[in-house]
Amino acid sequence: MGRVFVTRRLPGDALDRLCQLHEVRVYQGTGPVPRDVLLEAAASSDALVTLLTDRVDEAVLSRGVKVVANCAVGYDNVDLEAARRHGVVVTHTPDVLTDATADLAFALLLAAARRVVEGDRLVREGVFPPWDPHFLLGRAVAGRVLGVVGPGRIGRAVLRRGRGFGMRLLYHGRRSLAAPIEADLGAKRVPFEVLLAESDFVSLHVPLTPETHHLIDAAALKRMKPTAVLVNTARGAVVDEGALARALHEGRLFAAGLDVFEAEPAVHRELLSAPNVVLTPHVGSAT
Ligand code: GLV
Repeated sequence: MGRVFVTRRLPGDALDRLCQLHEVRVYQGTGPVPRDVLLEAAASSDALVTLLTDRVDEAVLSRGVKVVANCAVGYDNVDLEAARRHGVVVTHTPDVLTDATADLAFALLLAAARRVVEGDRLVREGVFPPWDPHFLLGRAVAGRVLGVVGPGRIGRAVLRRGRGFGMRLLYHGRRSLAAPIEADLGAKRVPFEVLLAESDFVSLHVPLTPETHHLIDAAALKRMKPTAVLVNTARGAVVDEGALARALHEGRLFAAGLDVFEAEPAVHRELLSAPNVVLTPHVGSAT
């Protein structure tokens, strides 16, 4: 039996199952666990169950805790180098949220392409003009090119959805997918610049690392088609939000669908004022 500290009440029967095996303490507050509470828990627990909003750095990892179980697929909140130095095992939650996140990426793609949120707003405001073939025109999806950056579990699940919608599929990743997987998906690996230039929809599925920070910057946005849609359900800082907001306001990009933001819970002011961006509050795995 170990001493486990959980930084938030978890849904379902996760806590009951944990309590059957361990001595469990759960932070009872509603927001992120305060730093001093986390530091104290790291000194008095064998394991921490953390959320993506908890900064698990040297100060936490050096206090004697042996395991950090991060309740997220992304683990950019955990300093892995420090974990290695202090012999702390770090785990995360891949697989369980693959389809949920891919569904949300596709929901954002469709909503942005077909201006669903703009339409919803107009209807609520009482704007419902007589049927007009020019009204609220969006972008078609079938036959268009979907480019996935980061063909991991979620990226591949998005490609499968793209295939179902009759799209042509490109991907960019450090390595090629195994030939049978590539053939099964019908996706082609291309250099990043080619993916940006040829895709009608670009969906991001890379982890946040120093290499992927601002992967989509002003230069990358310039390479994209002005008719393209950008979707981000990975991590906010993969995109330079200021550059994206400018591109959207200046009509250099058709639209964007974003579930993640650089400084959550803050959202760039100029994204909030852009009509052609669909925003959700980091709910990719929320099913
Ligand atoms: C959510 O963003 C996750 O990484 O699981």
